Formats: sequence, structure tokens, C-alpha cells
Amino acid sequence: MRRFVLESDGRRRTVSLGARVGTVGAQGDVWRIVDAPGHVAKILRSSHRDRLDERLDALAALRPTDPDRVAWPVARVLSPGDEALVGLAMPYLSPATHRPLTDVLRGPRKGPDRTFATAAADLAGTLARLHRAGVVVGDLAPANVLTTRQARLTLIDADGWQLPGRPGRPPLPCPFSRDEYKAPELLGRPPGVARTDFSDRWALAVIVAELLVGLHPFAGVAPDAPPPYDEVANVEAGRCWLLGHPMTLPDAGPPPKPPASVQRLFEACFGPGRTDPRHRPTASAWAYALSEAAA
Ligand SMILES: Nc1ncnc2c1ncn2[C@@H]1O[C@H](COP(=O)(O)OP(=O)(O)O)[C@@H](O)[C@H]1O
Ligand SMILES: [Mg+2]
Repeated sequence: MRRFVLESDGRRRTVSLGARVGTVGAQGDVWRIVDAPGHVAKILRSSHRDRLDERLDALAALRPTDPDRVAWPVARVLSPGDEALVGLAMPYLSPATHRPLTDVLRGPRKGPDRTFATAAADLAGTLARLHRAGVVVGDLAPANVLTTRQARLTLIDADGWQLPGRPGRPPLPCPFSRDEYKAPELLGRPPGVARTDFSDRWALAVIVAELLVGLHPFAGVAPDAPPPYDEVANVEAGRCWLLGHPMTLPDAGPPPKPPASVQRLFEACFGPGRTDPRHRPTASAWAYALSEAAA
């Protein structure tokens, strides 16, 4: 069994890692901790350990801004021999209480529309608090969100956020974002390029649409569009079925119509906000409109 050292508040203990949790990650792998069943360890690939110490300090300082909706790192993980920093420990969000948002979105839609609006409002509220605290999530995507039955959404992968650096140091970059949730100005840019609140706002709007109407807002095939037929090509060409572009959609039957107050935010984000990020509604504007829709 692989042994590691956990360090928190200056105290160290040796632990063993058990089974792998979830899918093989791009930045690191997540493992159960045999001696601490309520926690998991994320061991980062060596290429993703740059400034990890600074990153974990920044996350520790941010934790009070939103203690509940993020799987915050709670300890450092050191390799047993040289005590090099190789990862972090965080609370284990067990499948008994938490499901990946990707599963919820992929499966048949179960539950009333209100539950989906509650989930969307919850995520928007979390993002609003993080933005106020100076965080840019960067890879804001359903793969980094777990949900409870009560539609409380928790963000994982906090070690991939773009964070303010120590005084006098550059920001800690976000290493990766998924194309389907990338704001148009980031498409085709190098992986570590600077993200902004505005790029998170775009990703939030896409996830909100997926939650509320069950479909990516730039899904579908336009009548006379050349291949490739994917969301990225549609984002680049401004073909958005949610804004009324004639598109053949993957699923039979018309998707549900969002409430008017929410539709206005989609129109601002995916219409003028596609080329001018300043038009994208803030996370708090989304939280407000969505909690009204969920009421
Ligand atoms: N705190 C956690 N509790 C339970 N499962 C987790 C937790 N953090 C991550 N996972 C699982 O591990 C996978 C990879 O974690 P993630 O932090 O997203 O890695 P990467 O940085 O490589 O994307 C996730 O998709 C999820 O299935
Ligand atoms: Mg991830």
C-alpha cells in the first residue's frame, strides 16, 4: 500500500492510500485515505506541482468565504522519503450523498423544473461569492461539480483555479479549461492563458442552460453550415438555438422554455456577450434571477 505523510497545522501523520476515486484526472488522481475515511488525497502529476505550496496557502486563506460549497484542501500531502509536497487532502464527497453533475445532465431528466432552477441558483451563488473573493474558477464545467439530492452543488478541483499570487508575485494560473464551456475569446488560446470573471460568467451561463433546458445552448446543426458540427464551431459562428437560430437539435421534442427573466440573461450572454464579455450577466445577477425562478 502506498504511504504518504499528511500535514496540517504543523502536525504530521503517515497514512496509506486505498482505492482510486472517480475517473483518472488530467492534473492528478484522487484516492481514498485508509486511515481517514472521510477524506481523499489528490496526488498531482509532477508537471502540476508548480507553486503548489503558494496555491494551498491561497486556498486556505479563501476557505472562510464559502466553507460549504467547495471541497477545500484541508491538509498537504508529502511523499514519505524526501517530504516533497505532492498533493492535498480534502473531504470525501461520497457517492452515497453526492452525484457528478455530468451524470445528472446526461441521464433522462428526473425531477421537477424547480429542482434544476434551485441547483442553478445554488451554483451561481457560489460563483458570486468566489468572484467577490478574487477567485476565477477557470475550468467551470459539470465534470468539476458534484450535487446532493437537495440540489446543493459542490465544486471540486479547487487546485486548478486561477488565484491571486503572494504579494509581488503573478497570479497562479488555471492550467486547463474544457472547450465546451470556454468563452469565445479563450478558444484556440494556450492552456494557461489568463482567465477572467467574464470567462467564468460564460461557463456559468452554459451550465445554467444545460440545467434548465437540458441541452448545450450551442448544440445542434445549422441548415447550411459546413462541418465540423459541434458546440465550439457554433459558438464561433454565433449559432445559438436558445436565441432562435434555426438548428436541428440532437433530441426529439422541443426543450422546455426558460422563464422570461432568465431568458433575458441568456440573450445578453450569448447575444452581445459573445463578442463583448462586458455584456455577460454577473454570477450574482444569475443567482437572483434563478432563485426567483426556483421560488
Ligand atoms: N473531494 C472529492 N470527493 C469525491 N470525489 C472526488 C473529490 N475530488 C475529486 N473527486 C473525483 O476525482 C475526479 C478527478 O478529480 P479532479 O480534482 O477534478 O481532478 P483533475 O484536476 O485531474 O480534473 C473527479 O472527477 C471526481 O470523480
Ligand atoms: Mg477536474
